[in-house]
Amino acid sequence: MKHVMNTYSRLPVTLVRGSGCRVWDDRGNAYLDLVAGIAVCNLGHAHPRVAQALKKQADELFHCSNLYRIPLQDAVARMISENSFESRVFFSNSGAEANEGAIKLVRRYCNTCSHRGPGIVTFSGSFHGRTLATLTATGQEKFKKGFAPLPEGFRTVEFGDMDALREAVDDSIGAVMIEPVQGEGGVRIPPEGYLTEIREFCDELGLLLVLDEVQTGMGRTGELFGYLHDEICPDIMTLAKALANGFPVGAVAARPDVAEAFDPGSHASTFGGNPLAMAAASATLDVMIEQDIPGQCRQTGAYLTDMLHELRKLHGGIKEIRSRGLMIGLQCDADISSIPRDALEKGIMLNVIQGSVLRLVPPLIITRQECDEAVEKIDKLLKEKGV
Ligand SMILES: Cc1ncc(COP(=O)(O)O)c(C=O)c1O
Repeated sequence: MKHVMNTYSRLPVTLVRGSGCRVWDDRGNAYLDLVAGIAVCNLGHAHPRVAQALKKQADELFHCSNLYRIPLQDAVARMISENSFESRVFFSNSGAEANEGAIKLVRRYCNTCSHRGPGIVTFSGSFHGRTLATLTATGQEKFKKGFAPLPEGFRTVEFGDMDALREAVDDSIGAVMIEPVQGEGGVRIPPEGYLTEIREFCDELGLLLVLDEVQTGMGRTGELFGYLHDEICPDIMTLAKALANGFPVGAVAARPDVAEAFDPGSHASTFGGNPLAMAAASATLDVMIEQDIPGQCRQTGAYLTDMLHELRKLHGGIKEIRSRGLMIGLQCDADISSIPRDALEKGIMLNVIQGSVLRLVPPLIITRQECDEAVEKIDKLLKEKGV
């Protein structure tokens, strides 16, 4: 791929087809997929309802500018709002762009409607995207190297430490931005009651709570949205990844009075919310809700996590298993970054983050049999690695 910029370390495989939890390469080899495009194809690959919606829409109208009405946007926005909290939605094309939109909305709201400044507090280990603002918001230094000057207005505090958050907030801060479960940071689950405490703190001071549900949203944690595990409600929520089961789309949902800080001309995207993306998102949400995919995820997630706890008894090198639904991290005590490559030879796709965490984010429709197969293969791979 010498004509493509060298920004990814790619594994030596070319996928040409997928169905459910299985993908095939150009040589006919099959793989059990526990990556799902990194928590994207939550309904499985080539889901017939989503594919059909895309085909139908492609025959009618690919693209329509936001200069004109796109009724499907309203239908998808209504589905998001009715299944989360009362909100107005802006559509983008990716997670970073959704978070960028949320950051702009915080700034606009604070600069025009709030007594607080437009600064945003984020957390160590977080990941919010690769645009300049979202990588500044991201609480991991490695992503920022060489990209100075970075935008102002962000502060990062220790994840899980309520006192650190209280100390970091002065009048210049108008919002707190957090992932309900940190994904890229290593599948890190907040301490019990932490999100509720943050919500209460935001209410006390009049801060906006922005939840980055790009990875945790769309059933991944066993609820349609990750925050539903706690008795809280965000002021702004961002979505992307699985929202259209693999078709590029992102969304910023905000409380109506916060959303009002945007008016015509204040934010826009050529492709954001185009008919193809909306057809795919609408079909994805329909299936997700009709078939209670989050409920299915809860059950299969519990099954797979139990199996992994059994596996841990055989592998002293697994230090910890962190899981919510089908967002699972196996914290190992060694560098396991070669596992994704070795896994291909065993017919399975696996992902490693932070060098030592095996992250499992399979399609949510994975069966128990497929979980058994996955655990058997992971067992062999870990044995070979001496973990
Ligand atoms: C929590 C979170 N936010 C934002 C992003 C960025 O999304 P995208 O890659 O679609 O820009 C990611 C991607 O991994 C993510 O996990």
